[in-house]
Amino acid sequence: MIRLAVRCRPDQAEIVLAELTVLAPGGVEETTTAEYVEYAIYGAEGELPDIGEVEAASGDGLVGVVATEVADDWAERWRAFHKPLAITAPDGGTSFWLRPPWEEGGPGEFEVVIDPGQAFGTGAHPTTRLSLQLLLVLHDRGLSCGPLTDLGTGSAVLSIAAAKLGWGPVSGYDHEVAAIEAGKENAEVNSVELELERFDLKSGLPELGPTVVANLTAPLLEVLAAQVDESNRPDRMVCSGLLATERERVEAAFAGVGLASRRFLVDENWGGMLLEAGK
Ligand SMILES: C[S@@+](CC[C@H](N)C(=O)[O-])C[C@H]1O[C@@H](n2cnc3c(N)ncnc32)[C@H](O)[C@@H]1O
Repeated sequence: MIRLAVRCRPDQAEIVLAELTVLAPGGVEETTTAEYVEYAIYGAEGELPDIGEVEAASGDGLVGVVATEVADDWAERWRAFHKPLAITAPDGGTSFWLRPPWEEGGPGEFEVVIDPGQAFGTGAHPTTRLSLQLLLVLHDRGLSCGPLTDLGTGSAVLSIAAAKLGWGPVSGYDHEVAAIEAGKENAEVNSVELELERFDLKSGLPELGPTVVANLTAPLLEVLAAQVDESNRPDRMVCSGLLATERERVEAAFAGVGLASRRFLVDENWGGMLLEAGK
């Protein structure tokens, strides 16, 4: 097993992390010192992502890329990285417990058990947590019912939480085969019914429910907004995956199609927004 560590100047950390998150959706290990921030990903030889894209994005901010062989404790390190956590509505309403299968449960109204496999969505990433918190905001307003569409479903963590909160039917789409496989397994473990399908959001949009959740990237959210019009516009959308600094451009893209930003949450420089139809 190889540990690939990317070190960058602290002022470049945000952009390097954004690039790495796309390349290594399962999550990255972060170490911060006064001189540099290091992000490490793990994988078998030949299975790690092409680091050229990170180098290109971070320009002269990159301090170094170091690949080291790691011993047999890799599995434990990976497991230690995926900790159980409580997800609570930002206003202190409903809460639930999100955990990997190898950890014990805790307090909360229900739990979501996610084995990330190769797919994104353990709760280790702030954008997953922000999306879940905004789903709780809708739930606590009595809006967790009817069809929900999850665009970029990954491990299906948001779909599973939505189904447990009362939405249904819940449909999830992702272009990665690994995501659909992991999502189906996670749905079964959590005893929820989901419709999961491979779909490339750059080639169009599936049928959208009145509630849509989309934890993607700012550019992909803009592609999505460009495909929304009066015929398919959802009543409300939870969007994340953008950096807090990208808020205005994403809000502008959706405002143009009649979806107004009603709430914006920030976690570690990442943003999550709740959009609703109407002025
Ligand atoms: C940030 S992850 C979110 C995963 C999960 N929904 C969560 O909140 O943790 C983004 C997901 O979008 C998927 N994705 C990226 N580009 C896509 C595209 N063009 N079409 C469909 N899915 C895409 C990725 O495979 C990934 O699973």
